[in-house]
Amino acid sequence: MESKIIDESKQGEALVREVQKNTFSAGKKMFLESYGCQMNFADSEIVASILIDKGYTTTSDYKEADIIFVNTCAIRENAESKVRQRLYDYKKVKKTNKNLLIGVLGCMAERLKHQFLEQEKLVDMVVGPDAYRDLPNLIAVAEGGQQAINVLLSKEETYADISPVRLDANGVSAFVSIMRGCDNMCSFCVVPFTRGRERSREPETIVKEAREAFENGYREITLLGQNVNSYLWSGGGLKKENLTEEQKANSTTFAELLEMVALIHPELRVRYSTSHPKDMGDDVLHMMAKYENICKYVHLPVQSGNSDVLEKMNRGYTREWYLDRIAAIRRILPDAGISADIITGFCGETEEQHQDTLSLMEDVQYEFAYMFSYSERPKTLAERKYKDDVPAEIKSRRLTEIVDAQRRHSEIRTKQGLGKVYKVLVENVSKKSADMMSGRNSQNTVCVFPKGNLKKGDYVNVLITSCTSGTLIGECV
Ligand code: 5AD
Ligand code: SF4
Repeated sequence: MESKIIDESKQGEALVREVQKNTFSAGKKMFLESYGCQMNFADSEIVASILIDKGYTTTSDYKEADIIFVNTCAIRENAESKVRQRLYDYKKVKKTNKNLLIGVLGCMAERLKHQFLEQEKLVDMVVGPDAYRDLPNLIAVAEGGQQAINVLLSKEETYADISPVRLDANGVSAFVSIMRGCDNMCSFCVVPFTRGRERSREPETIVKEAREAFENGYREITLLGQNVNSYLWSGGGLKKENLTEEQKANSTTFAELLEMVALIHPELRVRYSTSHPKDMGDDVLHMMAKYENICKYVHLPVQSGNSDVLEKMNRGYTREWYLDRIAAIRRILPDAGISADIITGFCGETEEQHQDTLSLMEDVQYEFAYMFSYSERPKTLAERKYKDDVPAEIKSRRLTEIVDAQRRHSEIRTKQGLGKVYKVLVENVSKKSADMMSGRNSQNTVCVFPKGNLKKGDYVNVLITSCTSGTLIGECV
């Protein structure tokens, strides 16, 4: 199977991750393409699993497909525009292949259901992120010549029992969803509307999936959720605020889940994404310190360095709170890599408030950051309550300043690796040279080193001898 992941969350050009080819038994052919976050990537693996179970096969060529599925992202307007263009391209294929079915999956399906089906007649199926079990029925409806739609959001669905078909590029790193949805209602964000309420997945099913991945040769698991720090499994999936003291004591927290996964095997690395500063407790940091195989890397989106902007964003923390969390990371995990998401030009953002973001970046000096111009999303609190009043050219200038600052900080951070020895998980042959391999250290920085007899999935100690602005280069020791 080949599938393309177009990662909108990366700065600038969308990153296209080509995914390995697998072959499956004969049957109707589907072509599956994913846009957006890692969660979408993981969801596509669930979709593949459900349909392969029903006898479908996959193809890397959309022109020979019987069904095309596009798993979509709605987080910013430009993500949606790209998908829309893609859907128009696919619709053209229908002229030569009358039986072709096209389905839109994921966040845009949730947002634009009627527009896609009725106004634009762009697709045959519209399937929201909680309705993938219904795909075989929906395909049958579409094959019968009717439009098929299921965009119901669920309070319970976690696909806990479905073993994903890994559509990964390297056979070393696997993503495991630990929860779905989001209850935070950040005022700029469309996710609570497209992915519904937050719900946690039963820990035993997570551990089982991670163990199976390890047994199949994977050496790194990334636990995924919109806000992993609020993960809580209490048997019935009850919300924290509704639990009795006894139920709370018997619940599994995110820190405990991390430990359960870390204990599968010392050779299995554990990562997670994404943390929310308001819920990031020291318990998680102490658990990270306790196990060598829990990677020393924290992605802690800040969004803005100004407390008034943060309040308007409904983030639930102040600049001071955020910096206290950074201090806690540095105290408990002195060698951790830290990255963030930053939005520039949010409604009403003044020049001083923008300077506060720059000064916070200066304080923290992130290894890495994903940086975005604010993009107003329909239905969100910000769209209803505030004016998107920072002119495009000012947004763009502020974004450039933020990107420049980050480039400087990445360079400083990378240089700090010179002369150090890192344990690196070998992931791929280097893009630049067939004689070199690449992988990441625990802090998530890419390292490049001579191939020797190394193969994907090995661990190797690398002495760093030189670097580029974001990559460490070294020799095996
Ligand atoms: N405009 C710009 N960036 C956004 N993000 C989420 N919603 C928006 C928006 N409306 C960014 C945030 C979030 C990341 C996944 O995407 O920084 O952390
Ligand atoms: Fe969106 Fe905020 Fe939830 Fe992240 S935590 S998905 S930014 S609402």
